[in-house]
Amino acid sequence: MFDEVSGRYDLLNGVLSLGQDRTWRAALARAVPEDAHTVLDLCTGSGVSLGGLRRPGRLVIGADVSLGMLAVAAARMEPTGWAPRLVCADGFRLPLRDDSLDGVTIAFGIRNMRPLADALAELARVLRSGGTLAVLEAAAPAPGPFAPLHRLYLRRVVPLAGRISRDASAYAYLSRSIFAFGPGPEFEAALERAGFARVAHRRFMFGATHLWVARLAPGGDQNVAPAEPGIVQNARVARRSGVNLPSGGGPAAAEWRAWTGVQLGLSIALTAALVWGLRAFINSGPDLPLADWQRRIAWWLLAGGAIGFAVRSVALLTRLRGPAPRG
Ligand SMILES: C[S@@+](CC[C@H](N)C(=O)[O-])C[C@H]1O[C@@H](n2cnc3c(N)ncnc32)[C@H](O)[C@@H]1O
Repeated sequence: MFDEVSGRYDLLNGVLSLGQDRTWRAALARAVPEDAHTVLDLCTGSGVSLGGLRRPGRLVIGADVSLGMLAVAAARMEPTGWAPRLVCADGFRLPLRDDSLDGVTIAFGIRNMRPLADALAELARVLRSGGTLAVLEAAAPAPGPFAPLHRLYLRRVVPLAGRISRDASAYAYLSRSIFAFGPGPEFEAALERAGFARVAHRRFMFGATHLWVARLAPGGDQNVAPAEPGIVQNARVARRSGVNLPSGGGPAAAEWRAWTGVQLGLSIALTAALVWGLRAFINSGPDLPLADWQRRIAWWLLAGGAIGFAVRSVALLTRLRGPAPRG
């Protein structure tokens, strides 16, 4: 299935995450300690998260079971002159020695790995004690005010976006697998059972996507007490919703914030203008010399535009509240 969708996978990723996935991946990469020497990006797919893991002297491995996806990853890496190791391998039977990794990242992959307990056991085998596991994953709606919107998005919008892809059924699967993964607590319990201590948890886009950062406790498969949040972080630390995660800083981050702020301002202004226009149109509709079909098109343009820019404003606001992307 992933071989089939590999060609347009990145495009759809961007569309479905409303352009937010870069920021989320940057947070995923920052969750890995700077001094981690050997890092595996499991379910690496088109390798879109690999660049963020690049550090001097670090060995980065991207593993995936789909050769089609790995071919896209290889093509992505070629012009960069950097060659992470790309490995076609099943995450349940990794061709790696016990305790050989300092860190593992998985972006939008763990949901595909069933039984989850077996997948986590394999990760506990290859990670050294104290090693970091960072998981970025789309979750099912949790109870709350945004749940109906989130459900609508997963049930209607995601399968619709699949029409751009070569295999629409893959996007119907995406929606189903997110519901099957659940809103998060089940995954957290599985992590704990596999011997991981959660050190940080962050929600993006009102809980549509989560980032979990965990540390493999000594003994691996025994239950352990939660670790101190500082243990996997040596970049700048930002406090957010009681969770510590490293965050970008410096002039580049300031410039990124200023630019995102400008976009947010424009987007809010456009939303307000379109809502005002829609109201004026509704009030003076009968007086306008328009044919029925013209009236319908104008209505859809104004309403669609207002909704589109409102969604974009929310997305930009969420992005602004998160960490600045690295580099
Ligand atoms: C939704 S894609 C995510 C790709 C990438 N990490 C990203 O963030 O865009 C899930 C990937 O997991 C891979 N995958 C699924 N099951 C796997 C397994 N058992 N072992 C290794 N890779 C697997 C698929 O081939 C696919 O490329």
